[in-house]
Amino acid sequence: MQRPHILQVGPYPAWDEEPLNEAFTVHRYFAADDKQAFLAGIGPQVRGIATRGELGANRAMIEACPSLEVVSVYGVGFDAVDLAACRERGVRVTNTPDVLTNDVADLGIAMMLCQSRGMIGAERWVRDGSWAKGLYPLKRRVWGRRAGVLGLGRIGYEVAKRLAGFGMDIAYSDVAPKDFAPDWTFVADPVELARRSDFLFVTLAASAATRHIVNKDVLAALGEDGMLINISRASNIDEDALLDALETKVLGSAALDVFEGEPKLNPRFLALDNVLLQPHHASGTIETRKAMGKLVRDNLAAHFAGQPLLTPVL
Ligand code: 8YV
Repeated sequence: MQRPHILQVGPYPAWDEEPLNEAFTVHRYFAADDKQAFLAGIGPQVRGIATRGELGANRAMIEACPSLEVVSVYGVGFDAVDLAACRERGVRVTNTPDVLTNDVADLGIAMMLCQSRGMIGAERWVRDGSWAKGLYPLKRRVWGRRAGVLGLGRIGYEVAKRLAGFGMDIAYSDVAPKDFAPDWTFVADPVELARRSDFLFVTLAASAATRHIVNKDVLAALGEDGMLINISRASNIDEDALLDALETKVLGSAALDVFEGEPKLNPRFLALDNVLLQPHHASGTIETRKAMGKLVRDNLAAHFAGQPLLTPVL
């Protein structure tokens, strides 16, 4: 049987390449110099797109593949896939939920601890010999303080469970209170949630409805002692407002794993000493990335075998 042709939008770890090549005829979009000409050439043969959360598949790419049947996303977030274009064409979409939840939550907690205790600066203090000249400046405690979780989905829930282990006072916002969270306070309004939080975690699935949900008012409510931690998508935050708030110290600090236009980022971030910058790696462990790669392939294989998708979005 002929292996289905798939378009691979971005690179995967080396261990994914062989099984992908065995099961499919793979066209590597990211390796093409002239991407438009490449798509025009192979587009008509492509039945599946294998992409990554942050790369997605836009309308132009989807339209360049008239035989497209399925888009398989390596990532839980599918906001970069043009779902409207997929719906119009009856194209199925899958993602990789669950397998990455705990690692994403772990990194969020690590970012909170790292930033609150000033671990990056402390490392520098040791390496550059400052320690011999004096004590490292005192930082802020984490345990027992107030945490807000904006979006109590799978990842938000795991974040909150971990925060409970630090004896924190936990509140959350979501579209409605969750039955599974009786010990945590539901606060519908993100501004109110920020006002009662020392640490505000953004764990919302990004969509047009959540764009810039963390705005100037939320940042001001979090305040000069507050910390914003984003392990979701940059679009959930008004980045210009965030930069203004960090520069003017209206907001105390931030710890960010995602940026508008990443991997490039606004150079204003680089001039700040009250922000921890991470390269969108919350799901970046060997174990999770192996599970994500397998799920991407298993969804494609299920589709082409006429079986139910394992983790369908559309
Ligand atoms: C990325 C993610 O897909 O799960 C998501 O939505 O953003 C990540 O897991 C990851 O960076 C791989 O490209």
